[in-house]
Amino acid sequence: MSTSFWKPGSARPGSSLDRSSEASSPLITSSSSPNTLPIHSSRLAILHALSSNPILILSAPTGSGKTTQLPLILHTDGYPSIIACTQPRRLTAISSASRVSSLLSSPLGSTVGYTIRFETNTSSETSIIYMTPGTLLRECIRDPLLTRYSVVVVDEAHDRGVESDVLLGVLKKVVRKRKDLRVVVSSATMEVEAFRDFFEEDGVTVLQIAGGKKFDVEVAYLKEPCEDYVRETVETIWRIHTDEPQGDILAFLTGRDEIDSALQQLSDRQLDLPASAARLHLLPLHSGLSTEDQTAIFPLPPSRAMRKVVVATNIAEASITLDGIVYVVDCGLVKTRNSGEVVDDVRVEAISRASAIQRAGRAGRTRPGKCFRLYTEEVFLKEMRRSSIPEVQRTDLSSTILLLKSLGIDNLVKFPWVPPAPTAKNLASALEKLHTLKAIDDHTRLTTTGMWMSELPLPPHLARILLSSATEPFLCCSEILSILCMLSVTSAFFAPESAETQLSKRSFSAQEGDFLTLLNVFLAFSRNGRSRKWCNLHRLNFSVLSRAVSIRGQLERYLERFSSSAEGYHLQPKSSALRTPDAVERIHKCLLTGLYPNLARYNPSTLSYTLSASNQLVHVHPTSTFFNRQPPHGKRWIVFAEATRAREDKVYIRDLCVLDDLDWLISAVPGVYKVETRWGGTGGKGSIVHTSGEGDDM
Ligand code: CDP
Ligand code: MG
Repeated sequence: MSTSFWKPGSARPGSSLDRSSEASSPLITSSSSPNTLPIHSSRLAILHALSSNPILILSAPTGSGKTTQLPLILHTDGYPSIIACTQPRRLTAISSASRVSSLLSSPLGSTVGYTIRFETNTSSETSIIYMTPGTLLRECIRDPLLTRYSVVVVDEAHDRGVESDVLLGVLKKVVRKRKDLRVVVSSATMEVEAFRDFFEEDGVTVLQIAGGKKFDVEVAYLKEPCEDYVRETVETIWRIHTDEPQGDILAFLTGRDEIDSALQQLSDRQLDLPASAARLHLLPLHSGLSTEDQTAIFPLPPSRAMRKVVVATNIAEASITLDGIVYVVDCGLVKTRNSGEVVDDVRVEAISRASAIQRAGRAGRTRPGKCFRLYTEEVFLKEMRRSSIPEVQRTDLSSTILLLKSLGIDNLVKFPWVPPAPTAKNLASALEKLHTLKAIDDHTRLTTTGMWMSELPLPPHLARILLSSATEPFLCCSEILSILCMLSVTSAFFAPESAETQLSKRSFSAQEGDFLTLLNVFLAFSRNGRSRKWCNLHRLNFSVLSRAVSIRGQLERYLERFSSSAEGYHLQPKSSALRTPDAVERIHKCLLTGLYPNLARYNPSTLSYTLSASNQLVHVHPTSTFFNRQPPHGKRWIVFAEATRAREDKVYIRDLCVLDDLDWLISAVPGVYKVETRWGGTGGKGSIVHTSGEGDDM
């Protein structure tokens, strides 16, 4: 049983909290009618602000109607063309669009629609489009002044994602050229001053809306820190279920494994409940799920006697209204990814107070609520940072820079970055990477390949692989398309590490590595009529594979569009290379054009792999066909798609293939490596030398 004790929350206005944390008692209207939300009482102030200045910074507590009402107010009040509203996450772009459509009683995709990467639901009548900042940025490539739009709302600006920050910089430039464009920057928990200073010279109004009527959210903290937050989450959910009145629960954990484990524990506990007791309707929510599975959190539970429990990552943190959520359980942690040149650091760290407030704000949206914070009040007040660390400080900037270049923004230092600007070192390493990927030339000018890469909805290294596949000597476009769309979705296998799945996976598994295994799965799915029944038989996830098929279709359409001006490219997504004898080799070589820095070397004496770049020991992820297996005889080098440093500082590599010959590297990325052959042989008997001078003997 739990050892923790609750004390009543003291997070109330007038306590020792700073201004931003006042909203930890989220201010919600007492009526569920949208027209009585606080934002409506400020309607005239909003419209007036926008008629005087092009930029409006709007701060209003969670639940006041920023996400779902503001675009509607602007639409109703006559902004002539489309209103864009960006949401940091795909799921909230979809859910907000559905909510607003249903308020208008119009089908999703008519007056109100959404567009996110790989998915669009709009029509010629659409006047309000919810989208991710990345989608709008990519739209700028073809329409730099965003002429389709009359207003752009950048919602949840506190999130400080790199794409939303860059979008603000781009919008700052656009409003100077387009006098009729209006920009609203909104959030419940942003640092208003920072954004006001950023837009100061462009004409900005700051509007802070107070709560009006509200539903209270009572906040409770732990008296003592807990040791195991997953166990504490399970205990707390269980205690709510047994002791607290009716109402659904939303709990935050940091990742898929924790979520699955918590749900499993809750499901086991239910078995001991008496038959008459109310059951839990258990649902996971994380970015690894398909859109269809993610949206399963919205409907009411199948029976009214059931209590819905959603256990989510921070994707449920902002902009989401789950009808019926009364209780929020917040572990106070989040998983972040800091991208490195080869290895990404995945860390679990404390959330900011802004995030804690957003999380609490998921309760009490349609009735009073309670938030259980699994940390002490002292941690909240003294240890948590006020707001999130901007992503620009911890992410690989190559795709951002590629995008800016394709928008004609060449002087990256002069670009108006929302502070803090990226460091010169980060900018330089991103430029170097883009140069190796042939997206920019020796004078850092964008190439045609780079232009296409920026349009493709793929990270630059994968976009490069796709474009390489349509050139000599690779010519394996069809296969690479299938592999890339499989890499773009989450694992297609159910419970990828279970013995049963491993068995099924073996029937698809290719000696040569995981990329061909992915290709085998994709081809088998297509050959077997893309049937759900066939998927179930092989423990494959039908919706994940269907999504892969749809992504492939979209990538194909990009290639078709490029083909009209594609000198030197053989953009033939339909013709398979597999009939030719050296197809596998060509596919692997082609993958190297994007994955070239990701090399590891097998050491037969220790039966382990080390990274070529740093000599660091790495572990093959259990989902790989190379897990617990040596590379084929005589082969020592492998290439991988992803390396992550996770718990206990272990680095895992996933999606691998064997590198047959070090010379492949030379042809794939000329100038990056030198190969020195010592014994005159191939098959890895040699050493590779990074041209920067660092040697890697074997
Ligand atoms: O963005 P903000 O937090 O200011 O509010 P919102 O997401 O626009 O939602 C405003 C209010 O609308 C919520 O507090 C709910 O009362 C209601 N709402 C709802 O009932 N169902 C939804 N799907 C969305 C919003
Ligand atoms: Mg919102």
